[in-house]
Amino acid sequence: MRIIDIIEKKREKQELSKQEIEYFITQYTNGNIKDYQAAALVMAIFLNGMTNQETTDLTLAMAQSGEILDLSTLKETIVDKHSTGGVGDKVSLVLLPLVSSLGVPVAKMSGRGLGFTGGTVDKLESIPGYQTTIEMNEFVKNVEEIGISMISQTLNLAPADKKLYALRDSISCVESIPLIASSIMSKKIASGAQKIVLDVTVGNGAFMKNREEARKLANTMIEIGKLAKRETVCILTNMDEPLGYAIGNALEVIEAVRFLKNDMPEDLKQVVLELGSYMMQLAGKGNDLEENKVKLLENIKNGEAYKKFIELVQKQGGDITYIENLDKLPKAKQIEPIYSPKDGYIQEMNSKEIGKLAGILGAGREQKEDVIDVSVGIVLAKKVTDKVKKNDILAYIHANDEKLVEVKKRLEKIIKISEKPVEKEKVVLEVIR
Ligand code: URA
Repeated sequence: MRIIDIIEKKREKQELSKQEIEYFITQYTNGNIKDYQAAALVMAIFLNGMTNQETTDLTLAMAQSGEILDLSTLKETIVDKHSTGGVGDKVSLVLLPLVSSLGVPVAKMSGRGLGFTGGTVDKLESIPGYQTTIEMNEFVKNVEEIGISMISQTLNLAPADKKLYALRDSISCVESIPLIASSIMSKKIASGAQKIVLDVTVGNGAFMKNREEARKLANTMIEIGKLAKRETVCILTNMDEPLGYAIGNALEVIEAVRFLKNDMPEDLKQVVLELGSYMMQLAGKGNDLEENKVKLLENIKNGEAYKKFIELVQKQGGDITYIENLDKLPKAKQIEPIYSPKDGYIQEMNSKEIGKLAGILGAGREQKEDVIDVSVGIVLAKKVTDKVKKNDILAYIHANDEKLVEVKKRLEKIIKISEKPVEKEKVVLEVIR
């Protein structure tokens, strides 16, 4: 078999066989196929798509490219969660300690930022000392001992995805249903999840720009789940404006910790409760979704979820004094407000553009080797539909260099204000299972 023939076949819109897909994945993972040929094939897949059969074969080949974690020693149903990506998406930071505090074991392998979206691992690493790269046995031991571990994709789990994820990011091939579905589901299968709850984001700040596309992605992942015997629930959520108020790594940790202490932005709260209620149901911790939401809120209010987050940080080597005193977290040198030019109502805050601006400030990477600046980002002071007066503060830019000037100019244009009141859009759009 030759990779050049496989590239040609996909370029000519033909269906790849299971053997061809397996050949590509094994040879790319072990370095025999170089990035430039893998990039050509990935671009051909991006442009010409894949059949359901090809997507399933790709997912299973990626899942089998490394070890498959066996979490049966935990003797509990392992329910995992993943998001297809968003801006200001700190859901994992709050949801996972929260469900863990209710007895749902969490063994979570998260990603870094991709494209204009942020990544949970980058956020966790803004807590000094927090180790996202630990040995597999320690990962399992942490779940056994405290019911939660959150790490990066550094173990030998789905290594093909790790390479492809970075490659796709560097050649602008992220927004593709077969590539996203195989990336997410291969990781979930490899990390031992028995049941899966997926946050499928929709809107300008998501990879799926409309409901139709998001449904297709959701159904593709549910189908893969069925074939791999992993029950999968997809929750479509709105990503037309950033989730919550903070965009940027340490800034999102601050918002997440405040959330766990009962200061909950409404949109983030709705997403967390919806996903959490399904995670509890799948884990066998409560069949009634509304009752589950009440229990989730209770554990925010009684401090159990916050306590679990502290336990997690401590167990992974993080310095909890940074969580107990959020002022200690890395801070940007300049915090610059931007003001409303007129009276009116916030009509639009394009998440994708805001995500890109946070990236320009240093919160994201242009090259995969780039080191990010965890302190920078944007904190919104208003959300879509809010009433504003001329000169009200709309947002704060947290910057460490001259990029502040460009970002300020662009952000002022991105936040659109209408004279008439704006209708609220739903946050949780639909559930597919
Ligand atoms: N999250 C992933 O893990 N992979 C993708 O391709 C997109 C979002």
